[in-house]
Amino acid sequence: MKHLIAPSLLSADFANLQRDVEMLNRSEADWLHIDIMDGVFVPNISFGFPVLQAIAKHAQKPLDVHLMIVEPDRYLGDFKKAGAAVITVHYEACTHLHRTIQAIKDLGCKAGVAINPHTPVSVLETILHDLDLVLIMSVNPGFGGQKFIENTYQKIKQVKELAKAVNPNLLIEVDGGVGMANIKQLVDAGANVLVAGNAVFAADSSEEMIKSLKNC
Ligand code: DX5
Ligand code: ZN
Repeated sequence: MKHLIAPSLLSADFANLQRDVEMLNRSEADWLHIDIMDGVFVPNISFGFPVLQAIAKHAQKPLDVHLMIVEPDRYLGDFKKAGAAVITVHYEACTHLHRTIQAIKDLGCKAGVAINPHTPVSVLETILHDLDLVLIMSVNPGFGGQKFIENTYQKIKQVKELAKAVNPNLLIEVDGGVGMANIKQLVDAGANVLVAGNAVFAADSSEEMIKSLKNC
C-alpha cells in the first residue's frame, strides 16, 4: 500500500482551526492526527473534548487520536463519541493492555499501541496479532518540532519482522520529527503511516508539503 500522511493538528494555528482543517480536507492528507496530552503522562497539556469536537465538525477524513494520557480506559467511549476513527494508547500507560485494546475494538475503532523511544519493540510480541496499528515514537512525546531519533529505523524493521507471521496487515506509524529529510527512508524501512506536525504547518505551503510527503 502507498503510505498514509497524517498531519498533526498540534502544530496548527489554534485560533484558525477551521481554516487549517479545511486546508487538510483539500490536501492529499489521509488522516488527521490528534495529540491528546494530560500533563501527567507527558510534561505538556494539549487540548480536550471541546476542541476535538470542533475539529470533528469540519474534518472530512479519519481522526487518528493519539492518547498521551494515564488511565486512557476512562475516556475511550468519549473519544469515540467525539469522532475518533483510530485510538492509540501508550504501552507505558496501560497496565491491562489487552483489555484496553479489546475495549477500543468493541467501540468500532481501529486499535493502536504507541511505544516511547526507550521501549523495546519486543514488549509487543504477545499483543501484536490483536492490533491494527503500532505507533513508534521517534521523539519523546509531549511536544511538536523535536529532533528525530535515529534508532527508529531499526525499530520499524523489528516491528515489520515480528508482524510478518502474525499480522501482515499491521499499520506501522511513525510520529515525531518526520519531514522530507527522512520520510523516504522511513517508508523504505516499512513505515506506512507518517505523522508530520512542524514539517507541514511551518512550511510556506502546507498543502504543497503534504503533497511532497505523500509522493516522496
Ligand atoms: C509529540 C506528538 C506528535 C507531534 C509531532 O508528542 O505525538 O504527534 O505533534 O510533531 P512534529 O512532526 O513537529 O515532530
Ligand atoms: Zn502524536
